[in-house]
Amino acid sequence: STQSLIALFIAYLLGSIPTAVWIGKIFYGIDVREYGSGNAGTTNTFRILGKKAGIPVMLIDVFKGWLACYLAHWFSNYPPESIQFANFQLSLGIIAIVGHIFPVFAGFRGGKGIATLFGMVLAIHLQAALCCCVIFLVILIFSHYVSLGSMIASFSYPVLMIFAFHVGNKSVILFGVCVAVLVLVTHQKNIERLLKGKESKSYLFKKKVQ
Ligand code: G3P
Repeated sequence: STQSLIALFIAYLLGSIPTAVWIGKIFYGIDVREYGSGNAGTTNTFRILGKKAGIPVMLIDVFKGWLACYLAHWFSNYPPESIQFANFQLSLGIIAIVGHIFPVFAGFRGGKGIATLFGMVLAIHLQAALCCCVIFLVILIFSHYVSLGSMIASFSYPVLMIFAFHVGNKSVILFGVCVAVLVLVTHQKNIERLLKGKESKSYLFKKKVQ
């Protein structure tokens, strides 16, 4: 329906808000995409500009994914327990992630989708989101690779949904697998660097992030 199309369009625009690029340009006069990993995301903002910029970028990017899914409450007439509602929410979240990766407001060069994906999972399944967050943190703390944590946490999501939370809705699972594959695609350069031992490390409990 027109209503759903409008919601999907808004979700894309929401995802497209290039938080890392705008915060970098407005408050620091730089484009974070010209430094570090060249990515317009939370990790690279922490890496280049520190936590004062990184934390707001993370919160806003997570919020974008959450809000995109929340649009389903305003733009659909299906009951929130229905499969149709769940599928609509999934589509909204995926579109927001695509917007984050290919933002219309920043020349289609955005981030890798992780923070926005996390926001979406938060909206869809709180417990799964918390589990993914713990998995991410454990990997980050032990390996110091954000990218590795992001990829493993993304893959854990569909696995947890099936085996831990016994979610029956097939599109939830299918979506989870598709997004995990999308995450592998956006992390191609990270994978190459990880294999060569050249990925930059991030220390959660140290001041200097390299
Ligand atoms: O936030 C995305 C993360 O998984 C990797 O970011 O900047 O290290 O390529 P980056």
